[in-house]
Amino acid sequence: MAHPSAAQMWQWTLGLPEQLAYRAKGLDKLELSDAPPRRILVAGMGGSGVSGRFLAALANSTTVQIVPWNWAGAPSWLTPADAVLATSYSGNTAETLATVNDALAAGIPVTGITTGGKLEQLLRERERPVLSVPGGLPPRAAFGFLLGTGLRVCARLSGVELWQPERTVAALTQLRSNLGSSQFTPISVITKSLIERPITVYGTCPLTAAAALRLKQQLNENAKQFAWSATLPELAHNEITAAGPGRPPSRLCLTLAQEPPPLDSVLDDGEQTIYLRGSGPSPLAAVLGLVFQGDLVSLALAEARGVEPYPIERITAYKARLG
Ligand code: PA5
Repeated sequence: MAHPSAAQMWQWTLGLPEQLAYRAKGLDKLELSDAPPRRILVAGMGGSGVSGRFLAALANSTTVQIVPWNWAGAPSWLTPADAVLATSYSGNTAETLATVNDALAAGIPVTGITTGGKLEQLLRERERPVLSVPGGLPPRAAFGFLLGTGLRVCARLSGVELWQPERTVAALTQLRSNLGSSQFTPISVITKSLIERPITVYGTCPLTAAAALRLKQQLNENAKQFAWSATLPELAHNEITAAGPGRPPSRLCLTLAQEPPPLDSVLDDGEQTIYLRGSGPSPLAAVLGLVFQGDLVSLALAEARGVEPYPIERITAYKARLG
């Protein structure tokens, strides 16, 4: 059977604002305990799990503690005073299911975000809430559905609003129509500098670190390109010792700061960094603008390298081996 085309991937990716506006059924009926959870563990892998990084970064400026979790099985410190938000687009990811099973066995409240699969079945059997998102996309192209629903669930569980949905959606809709204008570095220019070299994507605060990880994943999965993510200032305590002459990776730095962060001077290897600066009515809107551009870069890089963005046979084979 033919898989979805590159054009379809572009179309899904351009739908980020509409995906963020999606409101899953059942949100208002989410049962609330007397006290908000002490911590929310957001369990998930890959394209589903990365939404937890954004939730945790946003929560850093509130009193809510959100812990992203990309491991098989729940941590022993989790207690029934905490909550688990399990995010798996397919609902069949072994590592996420292992965490959910541990949490349920320990009496910890679990809420799911999924299109179905074993996760939905398990949670329905245990009479736990499941928020359904539209199916038929690859998980990474459903990022807006997963993040938007995660933001709404975390707000409902904690009683603390983490974002302003209408404002964020409006800002991204505006950004989409301005993408071709001179205020943005053209996607083709960014892409040209990335061809055939491994790429490091840098973040300079918790939110841009989440976006850097997202872009690394998109470059891996869509463009089938080796890529890593790293953060400043942490890299000044390790990675700088490896910088120098040789064949360094291409560098992309995501930032929300007015002034470019001092990455080139910290690495001091004569290489040039491409800086992408997010701006918008809120830090979340600004960082999602960077995600939007990064997603498009990953698709353009797939095109430039002559690879199909949709298939991810190695991930599918890995999952089949795990069962
Ligand atoms: O982008 C992808 O397809 C992967 O990274 C998946 O998100 C990852 O394998 C987890 O699967 P799921 O999102 O269905 O839980």
